[in-house]
Amino acid sequence: MSKPVLQIIIASTRPGRVGLPVAQWFEGVAREHGGFEVEVLDLATIALPLFDEPGHPIARQYVHAHSLAWSETIDRGDAFVLVHPEYNHSYNAALKNALDYLHVEWNYKPVGFVSYGGVSAGTRAQAALKPVLGALRMTPTTEAVNVPFVAQFIDDAGRFVPNDMLSMGALGMLGELAKLDGALRPLRAA
Ligand SMILES: Cc1cc2nc3c(=O)[nH]c(=O)nc-3n(C[C@H](O)[C@H](O)[C@H](O)COP(=O)(O)O)c2cc1C
Repeated sequence: MSKPVLQIIIASTRPGRVGLPVAQWFEGVAREHGGFEVEVLDLATIALPLFDEPGHPIARQYVHAHSLAWSETIDRGDAFVLVHPEYNHSYNAALKNALDYLHVEWNYKPVGFVSYGGVSAGTRAQAALKPVLGALRMTPTTEAVNVPFVAQFIDDAGRFVPNDMLSMGALGMLGELAKLDGALRPLRAA
């Protein structure tokens, strides 16, 4: 049987973003975990315009090639991890835009978080995401990786170097995503 597809979404589109090394670290952990086919989706390179579809995404009557491509990409995902910063006590606009583009494609799929920021470790952003994900019928994991003062984990070469707690948190979250994927699959099939 083929493995479920885990899509790691890099939310920050900022030049020089910390999100890239954080996501590269998490991608390595996910590949080592071995339970998923791992894909990385970088919102900076996917470069969706500000939502420009005339219809509600629930109808899937997309008129733009970029929306169709995004729809096909998210359709093949079974589980997601959002690697996201905290901007002004919430999550970043590019992530909201990418979520708003689609509806059914997100439904009944589990989602985990690698949040980062300053003292809050991106937890305010994560909390702000949850009602949005609920509207899209997604199931968030309780386990999450929340990185406080993210700059302290970036080494001189620009790599993210986690502590044991963050590494263990990542594995715990991947385990939950695998369980939830199995539980939610029948709802997706229906
Ligand atoms: C527009 C903006 C707003 C920010 N607001 C917050 C904030 O509310 N809380 C926080 O912990 N960090 C905040 N930060 C700091 C970011 O968490 C930090 O710069 C982080 O590196 C941003 O992620 P990125 O580099 O992947 O874009 C903010 C940064 C930016 C650019």
